[in-house]
Amino acid sequence: MESSITTSITVHSKFLPEDCKIACPEGTTILDAAQGNDIPVETVCSGKGTCGTCRVLVRNTQVPIPNAHDRRRLSDQQLAHGWRLACQHPVSEDAIYTHPVGVRPIRVVESSGLGKIRLDPEVQKIYVKPAPATLHNQTADWSRIQDELAAVAGDIDPTLEALQNLAELGESVDDGVTVVIAGNQIVSVEAGNTTERMFGMAFDIGTTTVVGALMDLVTGDEIAVASGLNDQHVYGGDVISRMSVTMRGSEWVDRLTEAVRSTITTIINDCLARTSVAAHEVYELTFVGNTVMEHLLLGIDPSRISYSPFVPTIVDPVSATAGELGLPVLSSANVWVAPNVASYVGGDIVALMLSTNLGRRDGNVVAIDVGTNGEIVLQKGKNLFATAAPAGPAFEGAEITQGMRAASGAIERVHVSNGSVDIDVIDNAEPLGICGSGLVDAVAELLRIGLIAPSGRLLTADEAKDIDPGLAERIVPDETGGAFILHESKDQPEQAIHLHAQDIRQLQLAKGSIRCGVNVLMQHAGLNVEDLDEIILAGAFGSYIDPGGAIAIGLVPDVGPDAIKAVGNAAGHGSRMCLLSLTSRVRAIDLPAQVDYVELSAVEDFQEEFAIAMGFPNPI
Ligand code: FES
Repeated sequence: MESSITTSITVHSKFLPEDCKIACPEGTTILDAAQGNDIPVETVCSGKGTCGTCRVLVRNTQVPIPNAHDRRRLSDQQLAHGWRLACQHPVSEDAIYTHPVGVRPIRVVESSGLGKIRLDPEVQKIYVKPAPATLHNQTADWSRIQDELAAVAGDIDPTLEALQNLAELGESVDDGVTVVIAGNQIVSVEAGNTTERMFGMAFDIGTTTVVGALMDLVTGDEIAVASGLNDQHVYGGDVISRMSVTMRGSEWVDRLTEAVRSTITTIINDCLARTSVAAHEVYELTFVGNTVMEHLLLGIDPSRISYSPFVPTIVDPVSATAGELGLPVLSSANVWVAPNVASYVGGDIVALMLSTNLGRRDGNVVAIDVGTNGEIVLQKGKNLFATAAPAGPAFEGAEITQGMRAASGAIERVHVSNGSVDIDVIDNAEPLGICGSGLVDAVAELLRIGLIAPSGRLLTADEAKDIDPGLAERIVPDETGGAFILHESKDQPEQAIHLHAQDIRQLQLAKGSIRCGVNVLMQHAGLNVEDLDEIILAGAFGSYIDPGGAIAIGLVPDVGPDAIKAVGNAAGHGSRMCLLSLTSRVRAIDLPAQVDYVELSAVEDFQEEFAIAMGFPNPI
């Protein structure tokens, strides 16, 4: 970073497309200035200069001299046109900064195709008609209700809020009330018979996005689903960045906790606004997430997970109330947070195992949640093995020269044939960059044609001429070892999208990490590729990646495209299962103890395994 805040001189500048004028102390980075004024300049690396997502076009001032981070993350054309990394330069007086990419709505996988869920919820409603109060029977309201309830539900304590509800009912108590039981407590008492109305919400808290589903606990139907970018995104794109922020002190833990709770609150309000369900009718919330996200949801400092010996505060399931977390449903509503397996194999993977029936499926199966932290589970018969592979953010388009998340304008598919390149762009928009699935496709296609060698080297234009003269013209030299032009616009040359040699290297590092995890688990279980029956890809990236491409780049073993199954938001489905079915919840609680966790960094020949896994397979 070029400078820090050293004076109290105020600098004025403007951000586009918001047309927002700001004033900030001299020395403030462009990124900090934007964040301080709610201008959504994107960041994945939290200002370290490594992700390249914070790029802005600098105008109306002297464009700063590019530093090493700018040169690594921006193309020569972008640099020449005045693009710079916002986290690397201080704000200049009267400058205009344009961020055409910004924080676009990310494509989110809200559902899965994992089928119906058995219905035996933890939440119960029981209608009781107490003996009426008279001058001869001055028994307290609660005692009279308890007398009726004991026969069907035993002795259950009410929360204070339930007693306050009861008091508000007055004489109508004698006409009958419905008691609501959740988390082994009576959480509410309602007038009359309301047993037909019973609701809960199931959440999947991802590092990038949060998905919540409002569920009818009487019918098992999903009534509404909503999702949003995790408000913690301004603190970095992965759990390592988030934990580095929490290490600044407890007030930073609070900020991250407030951020994720604010996202959840927005999702709850969004779901309720679209239905006739009242906030006080939501009696239970279930949450699954990685271990860091679950800690932060609960306001627990996750910092210790980030340094040796990488220990979380808790891996067991946690119960709390919505009121304790400040969530806008019934204050006594039960909050259930899924158990984790280990520091980097969290409740989201427990939910994935639950929803895909791992441990009880036929055959030998590998399940992978591809993300910045790749989580991998291997089923061999009834045995389960798991590990975590730090893939980094390349699959989310970060640390890729012209990478971006899977949002409008991202190249998501690439097909190369007879000298031409066809691309699919999300929303059919003007291409702005390339996202993870597009990156995998592009590299898989160039490997297939032979323009990328199995070592990962991009051929020069001269070398490529004999293979395909048309495509050879798309290979241009640059200081990173060349680039392949995926898309170019004659009118706006600065809008060209290149796949650079260093991007191929980043993909090799990311896929090498995940494949190394798969290989290590297979060795641990004594399995060869021929022994595998199925590969399950979960999560947003897993839903959009082409199975053939995943095999072509060696992300997964070659089991044939038909044996690769994308299951969408399997973690979200597992969260719904825990909400709708006590049986499923009990299984989720039991699952971590059945998993043999393998720590990759403790594997003796890890570096060798990783180097092997980084190579690309020979094209067939
Ligand atoms: S935030 Fe600037 S490069 Fe990542």
